[in-house]
Amino acid sequence: MKALVLSGGAGTRLRPITHTSAKQLVPVANKPVLFYGLEAIADAGVSEVGIVVGDTADEIREAVGDGSRFGLDVTYIPQDAPLGLAHAVLIAQDFLGDDDFVMYLGDNFIVGGITALVEEFRAERPDAQILLTKVPNPTSFGVAELDEAGVVVGLEEKPKKPKSDLALVGVYLFTPAIHEAVRSIEPSWRGELEITHAIQWLIDGKRDVRSTTISGYWKDTGNVTDMLEVNRSVLETLEPLQEGTVDERTEIIGRVRIEQGAKVCGSRIVGPVVIGAGSVISDAYIGPFTSVSENCRIEDSEIEYSIVLSGSSVTGVRRVEASLIGRDVEVTPAPRNPSAHRLVLGDHSKVQISS
Ligand code: TTP
Repeated sequence: MKALVLSGGAGTRLRPITHTSAKQLVPVANKPVLFYGLEAIADAGVSEVGIVVGDTADEIREAVGDGSRFGLDVTYIPQDAPLGLAHAVLIAQDFLGDDDFVMYLGDNFIVGGITALVEEFRAERPDAQILLTKVPNPTSFGVAELDEAGVVVGLEEKPKKPKSDLALVGVYLFTPAIHEAVRSIEPSWRGELEITHAIQWLIDGKRDVRSTTISGYWKDTGNVTDMLEVNRSVLETLEPLQEGTVDERTEIIGRVRIEQGAKVCGSRIVGPVVIGAGSVISDAYIGPFTSVSENCRIEDSEIEYSIVLSGSSVTGVRRVEASLIGRDVEVTPAPRNPSAHRLVLGDHSKVQISS
């Protein structure tokens, strides 16, 4: 069995972060979201992994390398344009050959891994197996319709009138039967070869398509709200660690991880919080569910329920909440006079100002 991990895509919902970097590499508790998926694949006993890459190929290659660090043997599969999940399968055909495979969306996060699922699939070998989970807003997802016996009878991509509240989770298991399906379908109205159409093609051909409904935690980290929520859930399980320096004026409450070379002085940190290597926190309040990456500076500021990427600084600002701050960003107060906001924002930035 092989794995196909999708790490191309446009990432429009995570702009402006995705103007300059891959969304699959945005860190959750200071580890790229993609790495959690690769670890889950290795844990499931699958070692041959094809990673589909697009515009951010260089960055993904640099982060993952040959995969040996994860116990994986990684092959990169370039995709010229994000033409859909089924298109990714189409271009991976040489790599996949006649093997069964698990397809994993590189920006998805599944608590509890995929080992049980992969074992069940290996034992039963239906033509395809999809993962479903109940969601409150099915119109934003691929949605499955099941009959009374729980057999998948139809799939719809972001339906206006959903036939169920069961959304497709970003992990799929396939036998080589999927190859004929992805060759047979036409692009959708949005110009993509949809994996839902390919699976529907299998259903229409009376092939064996099964589903497993998971109750565990699943999130597509494609937007900021979900990203912060996944960060929260991973930080819930944080193991405290103290590898940096903390002065006696600092108060640390709850589970806090301070990585190598980080310095904390005169601050109050209420966990769960992770402070990345080489970061400096001084005279600041860092509140629950915050991940500060490497080489950041948080000074005379308050921040909570946020992710700060490497090299950024927040100085003299209160108070930052529910924010995703990119790399090498500077957040500072405006001068008192004139009393005005001063902004230098990249394309597609989003700012909410409280005044
Ligand atoms: P999506 O989040 O569905 O698509 P996207 O990356 O284009 O994002 P947005 O909707 O914000 O513009 O993609 C799911 C995963 O699959 C993600 O990790 C990117 C990857 N992907 C590919 O590798 N190739 C593709 O053709 C597509 C559509 C996605």
